[in-house]
Amino acid sequence: MIANVHEYKILIINFGSQYAQLIARRIREIGVYCELFSSNISEEQIRKFNPNGIILSGSPESTIKQNSPYVVEYIFQAGVPILGICYGMQIMSIQLGGQVEISNKREFGYAKVYIKQSCKLLNNIYDTLSSNNEPVLNVWMSHNDKVTSIPNNFKIIASTDNCQFAIIANEKKRFYGVQFHPEVTHTYQGVNILRRFTLNICCCKSNWTSEKIIEYSVQYLKTQIGSDKIILALSGGIDSSVTALLLNRAVGKQLTCIFVNNGLLRLNESQQIINMFSKKFNLNIIHVSAQDRFLKALSGIYDPELKRKIIGNIFIEIFNEQAIKQTQVKWLAQGTIYPDIIESAISSSNKAHIIKSHHNVGGLPIKMKLKLIEPLKELFKDEVRQMGHELGLPYDILYRHPFPGPGLGVRVLGEVKKEYCDLLHKADSIFIEELHIANLYYKVSQAFTVFLPIQTVSVMGDNRKYDWVISLRAIETIDFMTANWVYLPYDFLNKVSNRIINEVKGISRVVYDISNKPPSTIEWE
Ligand code: XMP
Repeated sequence: MIANVHEYKILIINFGSQYAQLIARRIREIGVYCELFSSNISEEQIRKFNPNGIILSGSPESTIKQNSPYVVEYIFQAGVPILGICYGMQIMSIQLGGQVEISNKREFGYAKVYIKQSCKLLNNIYDTLSSNNEPVLNVWMSHNDKVTSIPNNFKIIASTDNCQFAIIANEKKRFYGVQFHPEVTHTYQGVNILRRFTLNICCCKSNWTSEKIIEYSVQYLKTQIGSDKIILALSGGIDSSVTALLLNRAVGKQLTCIFVNNGLLRLNESQQIINMFSKKFNLNIIHVSAQDRFLKALSGIYDPELKRKIIGNIFIEIFNEQAIKQTQVKWLAQGTIYPDIIESAISSSNKAHIIKSHHNVGGLPIKMKLKLIEPLKELFKDEVRQMGHELGLPYDILYRHPFPGPGLGVRVLGEVKKEYCDLLHKADSIFIEELHIANLYYKVSQAFTVFLPIQTVSVMGDNRKYDWVISLRAIETIDFMTANWVYLPYDFLNKVSNRIINEVKGISRVVYDISNKPPSTIEWE
């Protein structure tokens, strides 16, 4: 019997907190399905989603300002447990008759929460005992406002030195509020608190596991697709690779993958992808070698955004040309994942999905009229990775650094020429190889080389050379929105530089990019 992985559900109201996605990931890690909704969710949407519990997230807003976001009153009558976090606790307090005020002491960072009385959310969950034998939690706080009066029938469960109402509860209704952030790892018992809420208070069972998600998805895809044919643009990135393997398991040879080699991939990458998917996994793959077509279209083009557009458009043209040759195809699969949907600010519960730009094959000829299927659209990246692992994708594909859709098109600065791509391929493979040898590859978030179309002088032997420049870039980041350059060891940089200058004829100088984001983006273009 295949488990219904959506049987238990937590609804998360996102008030715009930087940590809202983190709450969702924690609940999923606990093994329960959840979705993020914006605070203007309607009663009808809540009834339709039919959650076992609701979490109200934090927010950069202040509850005491006019027009601050609040939730539909129905939430408090739905008869399910509620956990309000930071702003979520404050808005719940206000909406149920309590009060919030600006605190004269802003709490930001670690705090000690002293548990004054027992409650189901916290029983036996604590870090240490105080000198009075009170259980103490080490938590992460980040707030200006604080609750100053709690609604009727709520009680104070715990306090910090600055904040009397650090944890509040109405146990009869199963409403809980925590002023700190249980979703961040700085709150040591955070996951235990979220687990207690989800599994014990909301009575959910953990059936959101990658093994069960695969079983469920395969069954779902089989039923949806039946005996129809389906096509997928395979890029070799993790999302399209996992989509391909999942569909392969569900409908086997009814799936045709179209792989376009644009000449802007990493060294030998296209051959590796074809070998792996056609030989190891026995997939139907149409391999289109289109290097010349891309290079021709990029000739004389210097503007990065224009280059991106051209690369994207030619990809769609080629994909269409191939798709139209496939007779009787009814479905188009895409590797859209949950953050793509969240970032498009469109919840899967309402309007149509916006598709990630480099997956966007939305310009299909009208006569094809394909139905869209997105098997990963409910999954976070780490869940996709876990699924990829279960489906047999090798470690080096699963944990490879991100690679931009336009590839070397935005790493050869200015006009893209074959000669420049060839030099960049070689330099990049040396840098990446040395990172692996030095055991540094998986310690940095992204590393690559950039081709600078400027010539500089060098002297090799007795010859004066006037050759090109390569920049190395290595960054550390959590979310790719901000990033720091990595302090790579000098010996390592020296070795990479020597190898590139000696082995790549045409490169006379290597520099290391020491710019952080912001302001400097990760890619140079
Ligand atoms: P930036 O350069 O914006 O990069 O700091 C952030 C992350 O996004 C990747 N990136 C792209 N990915 N198409 C993509 O699919 C693109 O046009 C693109 N531009 C940047 C970049 O490699 C980094 O991981």
